[in-house]
Amino acid sequence: MEVVIVPDAAAQGEIVADAVVRLAGCKPDFVIGLATGSSPLAAYDAIVEHHRAGKVSFAAAQAFTLDEYVGLTEGHPESYHAVIERDFASRVDLPLTSLHCPDGRADDLERACAEYEDAMRRAGGVDLQILGIGTDGHIAFNEPGSSLASRTRMKTLTAQTRRDNARFFDGLADRVPRHCLTQGLGTIMEARHIMLLATGEGKSEAVRHLVEGAVSAMWPATVLQFHPRVTVLLDEPAASKLRLSDYYREAWEGKSLGA
Ligand code: F6R
Repeated sequence: MEVVIVPDAAAQGEIVADAVVRLAGCKPDFVIGLATGSSPLAAYDAIVEHHRAGKVSFAAAQAFTLDEYVGLTEGHPESYHAVIERDFASRVDLPLTSLHCPDGRADDLERACAEYEDAMRRAGGVDLQILGIGTDGHIAFNEPGSSLASRTRMKTLTAQTRRDNARFFDGLADRVPRHCLTQGLGTIMEARHIMLLATGEGKSEAVRHLVEGAVSAMWPATVLQFHPRVTVLLDEPAASKLRLSDYYREAWEGKSLGA
């Protein structure tokens, strides 16, 4: 795992945007995995800036989101489809037909999940997956206890995730849907490169488990320790519980100097 500690979300965003520019340079029809939530917003801003500067085009790309609430009304502004369109897709030249989200309004949710997996397979898999992490260690909506080999399926959100996400629903956890469709941990693990973003002290315990803890379904993000190419981008507060933080700083400095 490559752990990068930077001053703030803007610095994280630049690193992600550079990776996207590089990827698009060698593979114009790349497949990007998009997370919703607060963590990737600075990265999306940086990517949009590079797009406006003509350094990256999404015209031939495809994008897959991680998850979706179940049961929100059509066009609900907090559905992840609406959020990702607003925060990112509508700001670049990604054709709307190339933006894929699990269908949380489908009559047959199980079938919608299977079709989502098929669509990802047909696209050739995800080249670069952007991830956030929940305070309870979830990635996508794989809550504690999720199978480390899970595929896209319906999950029940924990009370903590619903409290964490209440800020998007007028501060009321009761308004946060109880269920979601989410890519599984096994699905996410198939992405060829994963960049996980975390800022703030609130994420430090989850980050400690992710980077230095034992692999356990109770901290689902720890499955990423088995992935050959994960970049974990942290600010100082998010990194504050890491035992080897000095080592990670030194290693990254060495890399930036070409060592
Ligand atoms: C969102 C997602 C979640 C978030 C996580 C962190 O698509 O899959 O795992 O990444 O809940 O959320 P923020 O970034 O809002 O702290």
